[in-house]
Amino acid sequence: MSRKICLTGIKPSGTPHIGNYFGAIKPSIELAEHYDSRYFIADYHALNTIKDSALLKELTHKLAATWLACGLDPETMMFYRQSDVPETFELTTILMAFTSKGLMNRAHAYKASVQENTLTGNDPDAGINMGLFTYPVLMAADILLFNTNIVPVGKDQKQHVEISADIAQSLNHIYGKELLTVPKPVISETTQVIVGLDGRKMSKSYDNVIPLFLPSKKLRKIITKIVTNSQEIEEPKDPDSSHVFSLYKLFATPEEQTAARERYLAGDMGWGHAKQELFEIIDAHFAPMREKYDLLMEDPAHIDSILKEGAEKARTIAAATVQRLRNAVGID
Ligand code: ADP
Ligand code: TRP
Repeated sequence: MSRKICLTGIKPSGTPHIGNYFGAIKPSIELAEHYDSRYFIADYHALNTIKDSALLKELTHKLAATWLACGLDPETMMFYRQSDVPETFELTTILMAFTSKGLMNRAHAYKASVQENTLTGNDPDAGINMGLFTYPVLMAADILLFNTNIVPVGKDQKQHVEISADIAQSLNHIYGKELLTVPKPVISETTQVIVGLDGRKMSKSYDNVIPLFLPSKKLRKIITKIVTNSQEIEEPKDPDSSHVFSLYKLFATPEEQTAARERYLAGDMGWGHAKQELFEIIDAHFAPMREKYDLLMEDPAHIDSILKEGAEKARTIAAATVQRLRNAVGID
């Protein structure tokens, strides 16, 4: 029996960080053991916000090198750049005709931008481009093109996958057959929201991230910036309210966690010490991946060739989906 299909994409809109690793990259690579997996770089989605060509290229290479260094195997998983699969954009045009404007009005990301504009006394649509407004349709095309069964995503993307399912169902209903596979979002319950330097969700929008693959010296420096309270070394501390400990738990074995917890509670762990231990464990964890990442980043042409090969495989499937839809709607 053929395996079910798992697909996800990440936008190259910032330097990948520890939140992206635990929240998206690592779980997706683990799912590839059980699913036929398709992972891609959503560069046209990033274009909505990044209007600097050199930066968009650099971030695309960084994100591709990150996926590969973290264990994505392009031989067994399909790995490509969205823009290398032009069938995506033909499918987007087809899907537009089946997507109500009201559905887009209700999409969280668009609604949040309108709300922000209203609160700040601006025109409701200030700074909002059509790429942002129609973002969920392009995302639906990414997903529906590949007969996807499951889409691992963070909570913030759940609604977008549900919109894709709505659009697929609408086409299936109108043409009376299973033209498109209806996808399901998969939100990992075990991956909690990873906290950033200031204790809020780690996110490039909050400028509180720990980038993956920093050289040791820079990593140590950024870890010293984690916000703590002002308790002295010998004061007993509550590990569960400490951002340093929250991050430490992601890397430590259960035994290491218990030992550290006891020292926090016993007043045997100053913040300087706790940060040093966190630095050491993160540095050791990512060292082998960082080596791979650095090698890959030295040769962007090699990264491009991996992505191009992936796109060739992807286009075979994509072309069949577009043809099936063209036939169904009467444009063949
Ligand atoms: P950012 O918030 O830095 O802009 P993105 O929105 O580009 O990150 O997220 C890419 C992927 O990484 C998404 O699947 C998202 O759910 C996941 N992710 C981002 N930040 C975190 C976090 N702090 N904790 C868990 N997952 C995260
Ligand atoms: N919108 C997703 C994000 O911001 C990225 C994305 C684009 C995506 N297309 C996708 C995710 C298709 C899953 C499936 O994180």
